[in-house]
Amino acid sequence: MPIDLSVDLAGIPLRNPVLTAAGPTSRDGETLLKAARGGVGGLVAKTISVKPAEVPRPNMQTLDRGKSQWLLATAMQNQIVHFERIKVRGAYGLLNHELWSDKPYQKWLKHEYPQALKAGLSLIASVGYTPEELQKLAPLVEKAGVNGIEFSTHYIETDPKVFNDVAKTLKEAVEIPVFAKMSPHVKDLTVFIKAVDRYVDGFVAINTLGPCLHIDVETGRPLLGGPGGVGWLSGPAIKPLAVRCVADIARGTKKPVIGVGGVTTGEDAIEFIMCGASAVQVCTAAILEGPSVYGRIAQEITEFLESHGHDSPQDVHGIALPHLPSETLRTESLPPIVNKEACSGCGLCSKSCTYSAITVNPGTSKAEVDSNLCYGCGVCVSICPHRALSFEISG
Ligand SMILES: Cc1cc2nc3c(=O)[nH]c(=O)nc-3n(C[C@H](O)[C@H](O)[C@H](O)COP(=O)(O)O)c2cc1C
Repeated sequence: MPIDLSVDLAGIPLRNPVLTAAGPTSRDGETLLKAARGGVGGLVAKTISVKPAEVPRPNMQTLDRGKSQWLLATAMQNQIVHFERIKVRGAYGLLNHELWSDKPYQKWLKHEYPQALKAGLSLIASVGYTPEELQKLAPLVEKAGVNGIEFSTHYIETDPKVFNDVAKTLKEAVEIPVFAKMSPHVKDLTVFIKAVDRYVDGFVAINTLGPCLHIDVETGRPLLGGPGGVGWLSGPAIKPLAVRCVADIARGTKKPVIGVGGVTTGEDAIEFIMCGASAVQVCTAAILEGPSVYGRIAQEITEFLESHGHDSPQDVHGIALPHLPSETLRTESLPPIVNKEACSGCGLCSKSCTYSAITVNPGTSKAEVDSNLCYGCGVCVSICPHRALSFEISG
């Protein structure tokens, strides 16, 4: 049976679970049409507000490991594929100071939304920021024919009361589904989720993290042109934070959750889905790779599901959540098991063992663990490119 990637997101149909995210890759109707041609499952537009943003230039700066990345690649013969992959898939992160849309909202209503809707895909608008602004904008946006509204909490994130007011105002202003986009700065997500659950139809997590600073050591200056040269972090560096936020939200609500933050591959998307996401959004990877990224990730989701004997993303939805321990499992060391057939003898595990518990036997070229020295920390298990080291799975 062919894999069915279609998703029902609070009544909004998606042809696959990979969406655009609010950002430069959703900045107007034309760009959203390009995403549709690139295989995206549904459209999310750039955030609009009552006033166009005055966007500093330059406003985007990639972060990568530069020279050290290539030194690593040549030093570790067995790791070349891994590090080249990182290179091809782009930077570990991106800083931006793009704010919201620099177009007047009237232009979005008249031109950008109608043009994007020509793709024949579901379209979610993104609107910010205060209750008054949303009350004015949301009904107009709904009238323009969009299928849902995401509201950004980027500039109001720390106060649950304001967040609550925004959600309530928006829900009362429109009939289409409403999604709250969460900031990673929220201290206790569960408090926020509880407060707004009754006003929203779903959640999106996460927005960018910051402010952050990156100095080009050749010039001694930041590249970005906003105040203080700062920017907000996105891309692979924030993925573990985003995955944790999605898992927290998924455990606190029955509403759909959209994961966003560092999605670059189909496996990234699967990880979010396993933690309870119904769909994912892609921003940084789309900036760095172009609109074909959406189709590639959707294809990789299909390949993962096929190779693991599943029929649809639903088969793996939320399966990680019961495995998130509510308390410490154990505090005594349990050394990993080495699968001698899978071990290539590359020595990565040995190099990264700060307890000097692993050596590669020169005779057999296989890793060996000294259980007296092993602390059971887990680095070797996660670093092995061949999955030759593992802990016994219980339960
Ligand atoms: C250049 C840029 C502009 C962004 N603009 C917006 C925006 O207008 N509204 C919003 O809610 N999020 C915005 N974001 C955040 C993204 O939608 C997304 O939440 C974040 O970048 C994490 O996803 P990623 O790692 O795939 O980029 C922007 C991100 C970037 C990089």
